[in-house]
Amino acid sequence: RILIIDFGSQVTQLIARRIRESGVYCEIAPFNLAEETFRDFHAKGVIFSGGPASVAEMGTPRAPQSVFDSGVPILGICYGQMTLAEQLGGAVESGHHREFGRAELNVVAPSRLFTGVWEDKSKNIVWMSHGDRITRMPPGFRIIGVSDNAPFAAIADENRHYYGLMFHPEVVHTPEGGKLLKNFVRDICGCSGDWSMAAYKEEAIEKIRAQVGDGRVICGLSGGVDSAVAAVLIHEAIGDQLTCVFVDHGLMRKDEATEVVSLFRGHYNIPLVHVDAGDLFLGQLAGVEDPEVKRKTIGRLFIDVFEDEARKIGGADFLAQGTLYPDVIESVSFSGGPSVTIKSHHNVGGLPERMNMKLVEPLRELFKDEVRALGRELGLPEAFVGRHPFPGPGLAIRCPGEVTREKLETLRQADAIYLEEIRKAGLYDQIWQAFAVLTDVRTVGVMGDGRTYDRVLALRAVTSVDGMTADFYPYEMNFLGRTATRIINEVRGVNRVVYDVTSKPPGTIEWE
Ligand code: XMP
Repeated sequence: RILIIDFGSQVTQLIARRIRESGVYCEIAPFNLAEETFRDFHAKGVIFSGGPASVAEMGTPRAPQSVFDSGVPILGICYGQMTLAEQLGGAVESGHHREFGRAELNVVAPSRLFTGVWEDKSKNIVWMSHGDRITRMPPGFRIIGVSDNAPFAAIADENRHYYGLMFHPEVVHTPEGGKLLKNFVRDICGCSGDWSMAAYKEEAIEKIRAQVGDGRVICGLSGGVDSAVAAVLIHEAIGDQLTCVFVDHGLMRKDEATEVVSLFRGHYNIPLVHVDAGDLFLGQLAGVEDPEVKRKTIGRLFIDVFEDEARKIGGADFLAQGTLYPDVIESVSFSGGPSVTIKSHHNVGGLPERMNMKLVEPLRELFKDEVRALGRELGLPEAFVGRHPFPGPGLAIRCPGEVTREKLETLRQADAIYLEEIRKAGLYDQIWQAFAVLTDVRTVGVMGDGRTYDRVLALRAVTSVDGMTADFYPYEMNFLGRTATRIINEVRGVNRVVYDVTSKPPGTIEWE
């Protein structure tokens, strides 16, 4: 197995992910815990991640000496390359010009890292993002790759199995980067490559058992993939020590609540409390138009209802959540400052302290598609596992202005037709998320011989990797025309359909 030492790069988790894709188990340790983690870890190799600091500055982080003393292979990426070079006797200074983005790498010497990938080819596309540069090579190293602006783009000491890359092999913008990482972990470190999602599942189950003991766990189901996968996994680990609570806030899509309940009760036989709280939520949302007030109202009610139900079943020692890696606030933060609240995301934060519960978060290390793979491993139906993300506040944030039952019903019907057309066209899996938004804008239309004055419905569909950035999906015009016609013909209250072509940033995926 491989240990990744995190120096605070935005993309450290991508290194972990690429290594898992090579069939090798790995874990990430923040640099300040690296020494103790490495001591007990029995790593076959270590990767130093990138990071925002400059090795040339005083007091910036370094790798533990014990890693070098152990003799395991090391790969340093970006900041990791700089600290590798400096700690082994080279010299580094702050870059005169910083280099970001696409660059071409020319291989100048053979290396085991490049075997079967680049060999002696020139003009290999890599993605750079760095400020420091090496000015003196550490003893034993030689240059294996150069780019126009980076004479030390790739360096190696093949005898000691030390490698340093100035570019990021883990990002998709370095197309062959995954193969380089695979060469490192499989051929150079000698990891076998037989690790799989099935193994991950077994390890996760063991960890849950060890954490929970004979304690009781409560899990809030949202109807989404993440909480469902977390719940099924935990159920495999501890059986009926788990109770699931599904707070149905009346803001679900068509048939969604029924699907969740029948999946858990029927398919899995997992104890499930289904709370029908639609009246409560819609009552409190009456007259509320401001998006943040909507979100906060829903968040607060959700916690109240959940807490009530938890009490009714006699409380629990642990709260399970389907938190994914992109939701996790970075373990290593150099900026320190609070970031601006764009939207108050609804989750059950605040509950663990109020109810004196500890958290169980078995998906914390995974990306969305890995959670899907784990869901398949657990036997969740494909149609459920492949679902688009759905926000906690539900359809409330897809009805700009006041949320009413009538608007929700109109939106549900239109949304269902839109998704049906997407599925029919075979586009569902190419889209990160697609949904309809029912605006408060009314426009004039003509249907039959009569005048209409009805609402405008907006369609949204985006591609994304993690929801952090997104682009609108480029439908064929025929698809949009066909869908718009169906919606206007079949859904009362809508007489105009528009398509949202805003990317994120500057837009967000949801409208509120
Ligand atoms: P935005 O609109 O911020 O959304 O670009 C990014 C992703 O997050 C989802 N989303 C939420 N998910 N609770 C959630 O669980 C929320 O309050 C929430 N708000 C937005 C959104 O659907 C998209 O996938």
